[in-house]
Order: sequence, then structure tokens, then C-alpha cells
Amino acid sequence: MDHAAPLIDPFARAITYLRVSVTDRCDFRCTYCMAEHMQFLPKRDLLTLEELERLCTAFVRLGVSKLRITGGEPLVRRNVMSFFEGMSQHLGAGLDELTLTTNGSQLDRFAGPLAACGVRRVNVSLDTLDPNKFRAITRWGTLDKVRRGIDAARDAGMRIKINTVALKGFNESELFDLVSWCRAEDMDLTFIEVMPMGDMGDGTDGTLRLDQYWPLRDLRARLAERFALTDLPDRTGGPARYVRLDGTGPRLGFITPLTHNFCESCNRVRVTCTGQLFMCLGQEDAADLRAALRGGAGDGALEDAIRYAIARKPRGHDFDYSRQSVGGRMSRHMSHTGG
Ligand code: GTP
Ligand code: 5AD
Ligand code: SF4
Repeated sequence: MDHAAPLIDPFARAITYLRVSVTDRCDFRCTYCMAEHMQFLPKRDLLTLEELERLCTAFVRLGVSKLRITGGEPLVRRNVMSFFEGMSQHLGAGLDELTLTTNGSQLDRFAGPLAACGVRRVNVSLDTLDPNKFRAITRWGTLDKVRRGIDAARDAGMRIKINTVALKGFNESELFDLVSWCRAEDMDLTFIEVMPMGDMGDGTDGTLRLDQYWPLRDLRARLAERFALTDLPDRTGGPARYVRLDGTGPRLGFITPLTHNFCESCNRVRVTCTGQLFMCLGQEDAADLRAALRGGAGDGALEDAIRYAIARKPRGHDFDYSRQSVGGRMSRHMSHTGG
């Protein structure tokens, strides 16, 4: 493939990481992510798998070396494996990593085919090890099925990272259990501060409440009471900062969009399943790449539309609970931008 000049934003950040949501649908209804009765997008609004391939290929030509497939739940998109197969052709030819973030519900079926497409790592969202609490937070999920999916991914040779959203009063009591489990299973574990997006209800129907916000500096202090924590310089191209437990123990990550702003080293943009390019997870501005894809113009025009959008990537987000006493938070759902 011919490579074009790389994407550099106005703050001299090279954009090398693309996160692509292939569907807004999900087979779970995590309370901090979705309302129970979500209105999903009509099919005609979604990019087809062919459009997604053409778009992602353009980004690879423009220097994107890491592609993360997200959703909703990416593995519920019909024929999603044909898209993975298409993208796997770029591995070693511009693309260094093809990976996904999943709720794990379909991994028992897809782990083998994903590994065959060159997927070496998978991030699995899991907030509790208690089957009843798992059902409560995901509304529709079954812990057992997800654990079978995790086993299948390991059997297929993939490295697994567990993503746990830190929720006060929900998984606070499981902090050490989650750490021990990941240690025993040789998986990485990353804690995420809950971000104020989508519906944050009043809690009466099980939705996320503002008082569930559990700052990771508190979580870290709890860990430090029991383990020696060593800060690591490791960077995966994501926003997580890592520590090692007890010298040789497991690696733990912290993603703290609210208490630590990592925007200065941001290397990513996101495409929604409708082809909207969001330059920042925490800002509303987006460029309509679906129009560029469907307008009948060639790849040159598509690349121009991408460059034009990157030229207005903002310096950073402004998530802030103190300023968002329910009024000013992002109205967009995480399942729309893919996290
Ligand atoms: P790796 O570092 O490659 O493992 O991936 P990652 O941590 O970037 O991706 P993952 O999909 O596991 O994301 C974990 C969480 O981090 C999700 O909740 C994302 O929404 C959040 N996240 C990822 N990138 C950003 C970002 O640029 N800004 C903010 N605020 N949150 C992000
Ligand atoms: N705040 C923080 N993380 C969230 N996720 C979904 N919604 C939110 C939110 N409001 C997480 C999921 C998954 C990742 C892609 O995003 O748990 O790990
Ligand atoms: Fe689905 Fe992930 Fe949202 Fe949960 S957080 S409802 S698994 S998209």
C-alpha cells in the first residue's frame, strides 16, 4: 500500500491509534452505559462492513498502526469476522496491532477465529466476580458465559486484560478478590474511573448515580495498604498508567480521565458505527465520514475529510464532576463512541 503523510494534530500529536465502533448494539445493558430500553440506530445509518473496511484502510494509509474494534459489543455485529479478516491483511503492512474490547459474552465462539486473524490481545470488561452482582450491573449478562469466553481466549493464545469500572458501594469490597483472580489467571487488570456519559439516572431503576464515583487515588491507597506498588513506565498506546504489585506480581493499570488528565499525550481518535469521527471522547465535535464514504468520491476525498477533521482535534476533554451536577455532562452514550 502507498503510505500518505501521517496525521499530526494542531498540538503536534501524531494520531496512530483508531478505535472503531462497529455497532451500537449490545447483549448487555450495563447500568453506567445504557438504559434498559435503548433505542438503537436504524440499520441504514450504520456503515456497512465494506464501508468500515474502506474507512479503516484509509486510516492505515494515513499512519494508524493500532486498530481497536469496539461497540456496543463488537461481536454481536453480523459477519463481524469478515471485517476482522479484511483488517488482518494490513497486519505487518502498516498495522502493528489489531485488537478489540468486548464484554466477553461471545468469546467462547469467536476466540479461535479472532486469534486466526492475528488478534494477540483482548480487553474484556468485567466489574464483579459475584454472579448475582454481575447480573445486576449488566442487567442481562451471565458471569459464567463470560468466564468461559475468557478461558477460550486464553486457550487460543491471547493475552487478556480485564477492565473494571470502579464503582463505590458496588465493587469496592471485591478489590482484593479481583486482584487475586487476575494474578492467579495471569491477566492484566485495569481499573477505570466511571465517566459521566449517557443516562445517569437517579439510581431508582439501578442506573448509575453520581455518588458511585470512586476516585482511583482512593482505590490505589487501599491497594498500597496490602501490596508494594511500583510505578511502571509501560505504555500500551492507551491512557492507562501501570503499577507492578510486590515486585514480580501482576501488572495493574489505572485509567483516570477525571483525576488525571492524560490528554497531552493523546494519540487516538474514534469512529462511531455511523461513521462520525470524534476527535475527542469528551467533546461533541465530530466529522461526518459517512457522507465522504457515500458521496461517490474517491479515496483521496476521504483522506482529505480525515485530515481536515484531525486539523481541529481539541487540546483535551472537560469531564468534571464538580461542573457537571447532572446538567453539563456528555449526553452521548459510551456505546455510541465505543469508549
Ligand atoms: P490498551 O491500552 O491498548 O489496552 O487499551 P485501552 O485501555 O486504550 O482500551 P480499552 O478499550 O480497554 O479502554 C479502557 C477504558 O479507557 C474505556 O473505558 C475507554 O473509554 C477509556 N479510554 C480509552 N481511551 C480514552 C481516552 O482517550 N480518553 C478517555 N477519557 N478515556 C479513554
Ligand atoms: N465510564 C467508564 N467506563 C465505561 N465503560 C462504559 N461506560 C463507561 C462509563 N460511563 C467501559 C466499559 C468497557 C469500556 C469500553 O468502557 O466497562 O470496559
Ligand atoms: Fe454493553 Fe459494554 Fe455498554 Fe456493558 S459497557 S452495556 S457490555 S457496551
